[in-house]
Amino acid sequence: MNVPFLDLKTPHGRLKKALLDAIEPALLNAQFIGGENVSGFESEFAAFCESPHAIAVNSGTDALRFAFLAAGIKPGDVVITVPNTFIATTEAISQVGAEIAFTDTDKKNHQMDPVRLEQTVLKLKQENRPVRAVVPVHLFGHCADMDPIFEIAKKHDLLVIEDACQAHGAVYKGGKKAGAMAAVGCYSFYPGKNLGACGEGGAVVTSDADMDRIVRMLRDHGQSKKYIHEIEGYNGRLDAIQAAILRIKLKHLGEWNAARRKNAKLYDQLFEGVKGVTVVKEPSWSASVYHLYVIKVAHRDEVMKKLSDKGVATALHYPIPLHLQDAYKGLGYKKGDFPVSEKQAEEILSLPMFPELTEEQIRYVVASVKEAIA
Ligand SMILES: Cc1ncc(COP(=O)(O)O)c(C=O)c1O
Repeated sequence: MNVPFLDLKTPHGRLKKALLDAIEPALLNAQFIGGENVSGFESEFAAFCESPHAIAVNSGTDALRFAFLAAGIKPGDVVITVPNTFIATTEAISQVGAEIAFTDTDKKNHQMDPVRLEQTVLKLKQENRPVRAVVPVHLFGHCADMDPIFEIAKKHDLLVIEDACQAHGAVYKGGKKAGAMAAVGCYSFYPGKNLGACGEGGAVVTSDADMDRIVRMLRDHGQSKKYIHEIEGYNGRLDAIQAAILRIKLKHLGEWNAARRKNAKLYDQLFEGVKGVTVVKEPSWSASVYHLYVIKVAHRDEVMKKLSDKGVATALHYPIPLHLQDAYKGLGYKKGDFPVSEKQAEEILSLPMFPELTEEQIRYVVASVKEAIA
């Protein structure tokens, strides 16, 4: 049996007519930038996130960059995040001129560790570094533990900006959605995300009307009206065809997330009591949307190879923590600085996870993992 890591073709086949019908008017009316599909998607995505404002942008990376700028992060400010995220989180920090500071993850959930966060803040303050903001990443589609993070942020006067690029629809403690807890949250619609465009896309979600206005200007060359540039901005708009596609797909996001949760539950059951496999489970505070289903095994690279030989596609999110990447040599971090993230990077293995995964495929993946670790 062949089990792909992700299947984007099946949902597109199923939604073919609706997607083509949605794209056709944009083509025939030559409405490619802005317009009804972009504003419609923004209202619908804001409603999905239960947040007052959503601004559609060109990517999750742009969403982060614009959110940092709109929040007033300035060159020289220090912004704290985790080392086990995708590099876009930290690229956006550097690209607004701020400095990246890392804080380690917690052993069990792989999310930002609030205890370590406070230690990091205190250490940076002792060094007289201007700490301004913290960026929790809702990794794998699980929520980071936001209550203690907000408490620390309040105590030390830090802004909180959520990276919810992997967590569209995850719910924290039965209340707010990932990305809609802080004043500003960022999403990616990269094709493989739980809500994916047929190209690039992203959104900023905010409860703050000023932030909404600034992000709208930033994504559109700083314009408040045509050719009235209040500030210098970027070319960071979501195009109308992607918005039309996302409007169709958004209608299915709830059922797709539910299917991911069902698949995760079956994986969890089948891995229960299997020696040598640790599942990165849904944290107690999170109703997760399983962008990824991640386990930990010893001799991970060998296991990955054996699974590939059995036709099971797997992936690593992420194999090298950011503080050890060449791109960040200049930050002065070294191996051993974030031991939890480093150990996790050696053991993690992302298994196939998508809504259409069948019970038979899941059983085959689990049987193959058991065989590979035997
Ligand atoms: C955690 C995280 N942050 C940011 C991004 C950046 O999103 P994009 O690829 O849409 O720029 C991604 C996705 O790729 C991500 O997984």
